[in-house]
Amino acid sequence: MKGKNGTSGAKISGIGYYVPEKVITNFDLEKMVDTSDEWIVSRSGIRERRVVSAEEASSDMAHHASREALREAGLKPRDIDLIIVGTVTPDMPLPSTGCILQDRLGAKKAAALDLSAACSGFVYSLAVAQSMIGMGKVEKVLVVGVETLSRIIDWKDRKTCVLFGDGAGAVVVEKAPAGSGILGTFMQSDGTLGELLYVPGGGSRRPLDEKGLREGLQYVKMKGDGLFKYAVRAMVGAAQASLDQAGLAVEDVDYLIPHQANIRIIEGVRRRLKLKHEQMVINIDRIGNTSSASIPIALGELNEQGRLKDGDLVLLVAFGGGLTWGSVLFRR
Ligand code: UT7
Repeated sequence: MKGKNGTSGAKISGIGYYVPEKVITNFDLEKMVDTSDEWIVSRSGIRERRVVSAEEASSDMAHHASREALREAGLKPRDIDLIIVGTVTPDMPLPSTGCILQDRLGAKKAAALDLSAACSGFVYSLAVAQSMIGMGKVEKVLVVGVETLSRIIDWKDRKTCVLFGDGAGAVVVEKAPAGSGILGTFMQSDGTLGELLYVPGGGSRRPLDEKGLREGLQYVKMKGDGLFKYAVRAMVGAAQASLDQAGLAVEDVDYLIPHQANIRIIEGVRRRLKLKHEQMVINIDRIGNTSSASIPIALGELNEQGRLKDGDLVLLVAFGGGLTWGSVLFRR
């Protein structure tokens, strides 16, 4: 789905992120499951990941990241018209994490909702925010990607527990002159491949009973090699779609921020798009795969390091369970 630009444009005016303090290294994992630092680094590029404390949940991390984004945008929570939280690990099924966040922030005039698109959750949410602003429905949107994957991972399953981490990123998106800010968006899904990455239990199909818990239906199930096959092609196609929409070429791009699922996927995307290493924003070694939070955390770090300059052209490219994939192209 190409996000046709509406009459008014939308720009990112504030960026924030948060990762929990606790670090789990590959060497810690060696003591928990049959794995090795060598296997994890060579197959995924991950060296360590962050996980929440017993008291923390998604809305807490989203709150930290959102306050930072609002501060950079120079806005108060009550200025926000709409809150969209991309997540597959909400605090609870009801109310939405968006509503919980609205309450925490005191964003009294906002509508709030969650958007479920797995690792593409942030990019999808940003595309929806841009469309809503373009249509003239809202002027100021808070977009969050947040995940507490440590709560839905089977820490005895070496195929998944070595890959994922927790964290949050947020941006403020505001009405801007047409042709500035967000220049292209793209979203695509393929529901026929849903079983490559899913959590079978805990919903209306298989509410969790004792039998389900014993079978581990509350945990993420992943066919990593199956996902790998589609990832590079889907991400390259998504990148190209946003560029085409904006009438720009890959040579115009300053930074590409890919979803951080696997360094080999990221490197495949880089090579196919003929980008330089220094144009790729990569933190998978320190943060792991944080699903919908991975892109806004990487964007937040880039911004914090002072590497994101006014006028830079940035391409965000996501791929994940669903399957879902997409991209957002914006000028800082
Ligand atoms: O973020 C959402 C989207 N996610 C993705 O796109 C993930 C895409 N997939 C991947 O990143 C990779 O497929 C993985 C990193 C998950 C796995 O890498 P792989 O090269 O595809 O390995 P594999 O799954 O084919 O497993 C190879 C072997 C297997 O052993 P056998 O069956 O060949 O004897 C696994 O049992 O490695 C074994 N293995 C491990 N060994 C040590 C799997 N996990 C581990 C582990 N430590 N943690």
